[in-house]
Amino acid sequence: MKTLGEFIIEKQADYPNATGELSGILSAIRLSAKIIHRDINRAGLTQDILGEAGDENIQGEAQMKLDVFANETMKKALMARGDVAGFASEEDDSFIAFDTERGRNAKYILMTDPLDGSSNIDVNVSVGTIFSIYKRISPIGSPVTLEDFFQKGRQQVAAGYVTYGSSTMLVYTTGNGVNGFTYDPSLGLFILSHPEMKMPFHGKYYSINEGQYVTFPEGVKKFIKYCQEEDPTTKRPYSSRYIGSLVSDFHRNLLKGGIYIYPTSTSYPKGKLRLLYEGNPMAFLAEQAGGKATDGTHPILDIQPTELHQRVPFFVGSTAMVDKAKEFIEASA
Ligand code: AHG
Ligand code: MN
Ligand code: MN
Repeated sequence: MKTLGEFIIEKQADYPNATGELSGILSAIRLSAKIIHRDINRAGLTQDILGEAGDENIQGEAQMKLDVFANETMKKALMARGDVAGFASEEDDSFIAFDTERGRNAKYILMTDPLDGSSNIDVNVSVGTIFSIYKRISPIGSPVTLEDFFQKGRQQVAAGYVTYGSSTMLVYTTGNGVNGFTYDPSLGLFILSHPEMKMPFHGKYYSINEGQYVTFPEGVKKFIKYCQEEDPTTKRPYSSRYIGSLVSDFHRNLLKGGIYIYPTSTSYPKGKLRLLYEGNPMAFLAEQAGGKATDGTHPILDIQPTELHQRVPFFVGSTAMVDKAKEFIEASA
């Protein structure tokens, strides 16, 4: 039985020059995950957790109480450890420079979707937390700047998610494969349960909000029809599975093989998901597990960000399926 804490220390030993800062950040995320897990599990029992907070985020989406709570939890845990120089979140208008002596001298920044799957909070369906870590490019000793957050996903040092599902799991990568840890609430420990996770090359699930079908581009519509056709050699039709929490849909497809799509549409001309908080971290995990992530045609990790809350069309999952979707999109272009 190996705990997440033991695993982090073991991995750190592979890098003799490591300062322990990345390990510190992962510990702060682990603590946040435990706190958010606890509160989600009590959600129906108190008025403090369910429902809308009464405000909108900068993207005009209604903030749920749990969005705000998870965001504050992550921020406080990271600030308390002092191992990040800056923080950006889906729920905040702008980035935050941790402008303390320690913050200015820290070398990493973190971006997060603190609570993914907001529409599922009130109905007891799985939600998640996503994080993405980069080395800053501004000089150490100064407050972080916007350019620290505008790095291509390829530059990520670590990324991962927590899925608060039938059990709570933390899954992450530091660029050397993907490992999953299941939370044992009775011990208060995350235990390595899914070492070296690999996404099946061929999948059997497609995950898309099919209710929005008429708003999708031609290539996406044709790919959906392809998934539904009968063909024993490719084991079609594929099954449709859509939870409406990217983390949960991704997690299933990682384990079982499948594709998740949030395309451009007439309702969301640039896509709905956010490049920095959702696209990049999930793309890094997908590639590290042998899968793929594109905007339909190009790798997500090669996109140059230009806005903090930038949206992106997102195709992620089993390599064969993401490649197949690309064929349909290119043929309809
Ligand atoms: P968030 O709750 O962080 O805003 O993200 C919700 C995202 C994603 O998790 C999910 O797959 C998708 O939005 C669902 O959108 P639809 O309800 O439009 O399908
Ligand atoms: Mn989200
Ligand atoms: Mn969110």
